Amino acid sequence: MRTIKCGDYHELSVKAAEILAGCVGEKADCILGLATGSTPVGLYQELIGLYQAGKLDFSRVRTVNLDEYVGLAPEHPQSYRYFMEGKLFRHINIAPENTHLPNGLSDDPEEEGRRYDRMIEALGGIDLQILGIGHNGHIGFNEPAEVFTPGTHAVELSESTIKANSRFFAAADEVPRRAITMGIGSIMRAKKILILVEGAAKAEILKAAFAGPVDPRVPASILQLHRDMTLIADKAALSCM
Ligand code: GLP
Repeated sequence: MRTIKCGDYHELSVKAAEILAGCVGEKADCILGLATGSTPVGLYQELIGLYQAGKLDFSRVRTVNLDEYVGLAPEHPQSYRYFMEGKLFRHINIAPENTHLPNGLSDDPEEEGRRYDRMIEALGGIDLQILGIGHNGHIGFNEPAEVFTPGTHAVELSESTIKANSRFFAAADEVPRRAITMGIGSIMRAKKILILVEGAAKAEILKAAFAGPVDPRVPASILQLHRDMTLIADKAALSCM
C-alpha cells in the first residue's frame, strides 16, 4: 500500500485527479470505477477543470459506479445516478451509454447484482477504482459483517450509514433502507485502487482499516491485501496512524 499525505482537501483532490488523468492518458478507453459521497466531489471538480482546459478527454472512457439505492429512480435527486450526472458526467465529454450504475429500480436486486458483475467483466474489468470510506469502515455499501461478500449484491444499510447519509435527505426516514453495491470481490478485482480519506472524523476508522487486522467487521481492511492500492489522505485523517 502506498500512502500520499496531503496538507488539505484541495491538495488531496488535485493529487487524485493527477492519478486518474494518468490512467486515462495511458489508456484512452479505460474503465474507471467511481464513488459517491462528499469526499470525491473535489476530485470530480478537478477533472472537470482538466477537461475544460483541454487536458483530458473522456470520449472513450467507460465508468462503473460502486452502488445505488434500491427504489430510487435515476431522476430522484438523492439517487447516485443523479449525483454523478450533476457532479461529473454532465460537465465532461463522456457518452451517456458509457456510464454505468446498478439499476436501483430492478425488480430483482440480487439478479441485478449478478448482471452488473457480468457487465464489468465484459467491459474488461476495472482499471482504476476510486473509493471513499464510511465512518464504520464501509466501502461502497459493504457494511461491517461477519464475512466479506464477494459479488455485487443487495444490502440492508446499517443504522449508522442511514444516519450519516440522512444529511442529503429531508429526513432520516426518507433514506432508503437498501442498496445494491459492488461486492468486496468486485472491488478487489480492480487493477488499481485509490482510496480518498479526508478529515479528523475519519482518523480512527482509517487506523482500524489500515493499521489493524483484515476483518470483515471493518470492510475497508481487505484493501490491505490489494496488489496496487494507494491511500490519499489529509493530515487530519492520518493523525492516528
Ligand atoms: C456512502 C457511499 C460510499 C462513501 C461513503 C462516505 O455511504 N456509499 O461509497 O465512501 O458514503 O461518504 P463521505 O465521503 O461523504 O464521507
